[in-house]
Amino acid sequence: MDLQLKDKSVIVTGAGSNIGRAITLGFAREGAKITLADIDAKQADAVATQARAIGAPSTEVVRCDVTQLDQVQAMFKRAVERHGTVDVLVNNVGWDQLMFFAQTTPELWQKIIQINFVGMLNCTHTALGIMASKNSGAIVSISSDASRQGEPREAVYGGMKAGINSFMKTIAKENGRNGIRCNVVCPGVTIPEDDEEVGANSMWVNKDTMFTAEQLAAIAKALPLKKVGRPRDIANAVVFLASDAVAGHVTGQVLSVSGGYSMVG
Ligand SMILES: NC(=O)c1ccc[n+]([C@@H]2O[C@H](COP(=O)([O-])OP(=O)(O)OC[C@H]3O[C@@H](n4cnc5c(N)ncnc54)[C@H](O)[C@@H]3O)[C@@H](O)[C@H]2O)c1
Repeated sequence: MDLQLKDKSVIVTGAGSNIGRAITLGFAREGAKITLADIDAKQADAVATQARAIGAPSTEVVRCDVTQLDQVQAMFKRAVERHGTVDVLVNNVGWDQLMFFAQTTPELWQKIIQINFVGMLNCTHTALGIMASKNSGAIVSISSDASRQGEPREAVYGGMKAGINSFMKTIAKENGRNGIRCNVVCPGVTIPEDDEEVGANSMWVNKDTMFTAEQLAAIAKALPLKKVGRPRDIANAVVFLASDAVAGHVTGQVLSVSGGYSMVG
């Protein structure tokens, strides 16, 4: 099936690791031109090389901290200079430190709020200016099933991800008339295939601080599909939602890709 993403200009934030990496490679297979925005430019460079090898006609790596609006605006400027416009934005950056809320500090709350929510605001606001002027565009934000389920040790993170779900529905309603579609993908636990898929800033760089092997086995056993997610599972959903050819009548939706962990209907 032709998703008609060839030569489209796509920005992926947090493109260097795990899910962002798989999303980047998913768009590369469709022949999209990709801007990889990450605080870890070295890791993003490695992914860009892989993306070009499998079909991306052009890649641009921009070192960018999405929590800083001036850096985000400069990153979008580079994307437009290099690829002419921005057709698709994937708000993928996210971060958490698993901890019961009673043990957390205000400093940790602020970090989680900035990376998971304010970064997404910065990128979405900048993208809308470009997309509205040409009456087309797709924005996909990566949330989490923690936003739908209430997940112990993920209170502030889950709250911010729930904020993303609500925010994106409003943005979908405000911008549908401008031909802009806005959707959300909620991963469940999604683990890298191997260590090369994560960079130094990845949440997964010390896997055991996230989940032990025993915890992962228990999570898989509890899921209807009996397996945890892989980054390509999320990438497939994102590429689908980004494509006007196959998802042109889909907006304001929150799609769980989590082995059946949450079922919302
Ligand atoms: N992996 C999971 O189990 C899982 C589950 C639910 C939701 N998610 C969400 O999926 C998304 C990707 O998760 P992941 O597991 O691939 O994460 P990851 O930690 O492996 O990768 C995140 C990437 O973002 C970059 N980054 C971090 N802060 C940044 C910033 N301020 N500006 C720019 N780049 C920054 C990192 O360098 C890294 O390359 C996140 O939004 C996360 O919350 C992941």
